[in-house]
Amino acid sequence: MCGIVGYVGYREAIPVIIKGLKRLEYRGYDSAGVAVLNGALQVCKKAGKVAELETELAGRNLHGTMGMGHTRWATHGLPNDTNAHPHVSSSTNLAIIHNGIIENYAALRAELEGRGHRFISDTDTEVLINLIEDIQQKEGLDLEKALPIALSQVIGAYAIVIISQDEPNRLYAARKSSPLVIGLGKGEFFLASDATPIIEYTRNVVYLNDEEVAVVNRNGEMSIRTIDNKRITPYVQELQMKLETIEKGGYEHFMLKEIYEQPRSITDSLRGRIGLGDQSIHLRGIQEFEAKFVAARRIIVVACGTSWHAGLVAEYLFEDYARIPVEVEYASEFRYRNPILDEHDIVIAISQSGETADTLAAIELAKSRGATIYGICNVVGSSISRATDAGSYTHAGPEIGVASTKAFTAQITIVTLMALAIARAKGTISESRYHFILDELQRIPAQIEMLLQSDSLIRDIAEEFVDVRNFLYLGRGYNFPVALEGALKLKEISYIHAEGYPAAEMKHGPIALIDEHMPVVVLATNPSAYDKIVSNIQEVKARKGRIIAIVAEDDKVIRQLADFTVVIPKTEESLTPLLSVVPLQLLAYHIAVMRGCNVDQPRNLAKSVTVE
Ligand code: G6P
Repeated sequence: MCGIVGYVGYREAIPVIIKGLKRLEYRGYDSAGVAVLNGALQVCKKAGKVAELETELAGRNLHGTMGMGHTRWATHGLPNDTNAHPHVSSSTNLAIIHNGIIENYAALRAELEGRGHRFISDTDTEVLINLIEDIQQKEGLDLEKALPIALSQVIGAYAIVIISQDEPNRLYAARKSSPLVIGLGKGEFFLASDATPIIEYTRNVVYLNDEEVAVVNRNGEMSIRTIDNKRITPYVQELQMKLETIEKGGYEHFMLKEIYEQPRSITDSLRGRIGLGDQSIHLRGIQEFEAKFVAARRIIVVACGTSWHAGLVAEYLFEDYARIPVEVEYASEFRYRNPILDEHDIVIAISQSGETADTLAAIELAKSRGATIYGICNVVGSSISRATDAGSYTHAGPEIGVASTKAFTAQITIVTLMALAIARAKGTISESRYHFILDELQRIPAQIEMLLQSDSLIRDIAEEFVDVRNFLYLGRGYNFPVALEGALKLKEISYIHAEGYPAAEMKHGPIALIDEHMPVVVLATNPSAYDKIVSNIQEVKARKGRIIAIVAEDDKVIRQLADFTVVIPKTEESLTPLLSVVPLQLLAYHIAVMRGCNVDQPRNLAKSVTVE
């Protein structure tokens, strides 16, 4: 949600900023804008895509070696030109871009209006820049002094960059609960919501922490202070990300590329984590907290969206292998309940971006009750990865498509390793099953490679269903979360209404919807529930529903009953989600492409949900 880019140095700022905004497009947005300082402040902003902003810029003569740009995901006010960022203060001396929400903006705005400030937009951001200016004017302070005072009056979340006409060599930045990275070049600085706009210029970065204010100067100086004025020594990290991982590399869409990357991303997630010889699992966080996991009476998983579905798979795995009860919570619900938890509990937070506001808040709540927090994140250095006591990165590589694919299978890979490691330490899994599952897990990448050969078959199936209005997905056991994930993928990118259900629950509601217009995707790969699934399919067929079945290689019965069948390679039942989800990702992808949808940036959705 909302993308931020800032630049000060010796290059023309606009091309750096526009390229950076394009890199951040994946986060989800509905308008874009830039500002440069070259004597005077010049601002250009537009509803719609960055491409439309570029067209607008082509007719304007904006130059300068210091500037900033923003992609806005509307919260306060419509996504129009006026509400787009940057916003300028009443005197036009200051300009700001902002990611986050100022929750007490209404009270602040009323107060400022009372003192004669006039607002042209509906945004909370315009309130913030005028609050800063008001403090400057009232107290006679420069921006460096006024900014922390203003930020200490703000309730909510922010990552901001500010330009002042009085200071042509300095960019100001601050963050609280929304990400901000500073890239350190030679004689230049880059500011961005994540590292993707920065990596082609420099690998040296500093991740700003909550309630820190940074000032970067064209002369190469950088200072960071907390909002209560403590000087911070910046921790410079080296980026490991490769440029090609954030480019489409010949694929039509990032989502398709990421689906095809799954053999590699699972291999990367396993790399170095299974020891030779006794095949012991090396996950540093688990080794460090092994005693705690072994003694755990229960585990609570907090997550949102696709990561929540990975949490459901984790529930089955931990209970099956390690005999630990698991509760899987929507982070947004958990944070506002009064959950019963204490220092004996382990909370696992799963998040691709590591920035999801609700998941972060759930972590803070669990921490305040003394629980141990384990993070599973994909983005290195992200807020969640830094807020947890221990954790494991998924190593899926940057995921750009808004609909999560390779991050999901990487998350399942990690929770499988975790559950196996704990089960072995607890003695709840036999050595033979442990080794068998690990061997099968290491075969998964090659099996996905085979499965991807069904792509054209899945495209043909997609063609049959391009115009339907509803879809039902059914699964049991390990494949129930996959049914939910398949339905989520389809609705996210094709805008077809889809529901996932435990197969046996169908008769308690969704069966009423079934007729010849209702396609039903059935995940029928679990040997343990095979006969039951056959009965569910019969129930759908009896009502003229059309069946797309995902079956295992040795299936005999279901392929006779189904209208369409996709075969997945045979594996241990607990690992089937890693395979069965792939055809569902492809099905959603092809249907969405055929419907002319913007697959990588579906309407209204954001990749990184940094507001609640
Ligand atoms: C958004 C994204 C989803 C993602 C969810 C949770 O809704 O569009 O793809 O699953 O957020 O995000 P996280 O980064 O915490 O996994």
